[in-house]
Amino acid sequence: MSEATPERPGPDLLPILIVPDARLRQKCRAVGPADADVVRALAPRMLATMYKAPGIGLAAPQVGQLLRMCVVDIQKDDVREPLILVNPEITAVSKDLSTREEGCLSLPGQYADVTRPAEVKLRWLDLDGSKQELHADGLLATCLQHELDHLDGVLFVDHISALKRNMLLRKLAKDMKLRQREAM
Ligand code: NI
Repeated sequence: MSEATPERPGPDLLPILIVPDARLRQKCRAVGPADADVVRALAPRMLATMYKAPGIGLAAPQVGQLLRMCVVDIQKDDVREPLILVNPEITAVSKDLSTREEGCLSLPGQYADVTRPAEVKLRWLDLDGSKQELHADGLLATCLQHELDHLDGVLFVDHISALKRNMLLRKLAKDMKLRQREAM
């Protein structure tokens, strides 16, 4: 005889804002001690939302919270290694650049090559308020820079030519209209 084990529900998923939502263009404020509860509740929901999407990074403004916080997990070799970054700051960047194709959960289906520093040094606070530091390269370096940009209202399309950006934004608007029509 076996008892059915009830499936444990994961954290509630959050709706992801899509361009041109104005909140994606705001500069986020630093997380302070008074935000501790909000940030603690937000982190698991942001991670669950990111994994479900699926994506490798998600910044708080993408779920409508204008706070300097993001989650990242590049899931190398399919292993989950979540980073929760509160008040992250880039402290050094390499002269070497690298170009990678980027996408964004707030611009679904749109991709472009973006050139950024190949390596970055970063510091942030974890959920316990402890200082953390990391020297990142490769995909992780790109992903971290992309997520930190979000905290200043900057999107990956701001790093490409105006011509490419406008093409991509027009295509996004068209895709979203189509999606809306299909949902009706
Ligand atoms: Ni993004």
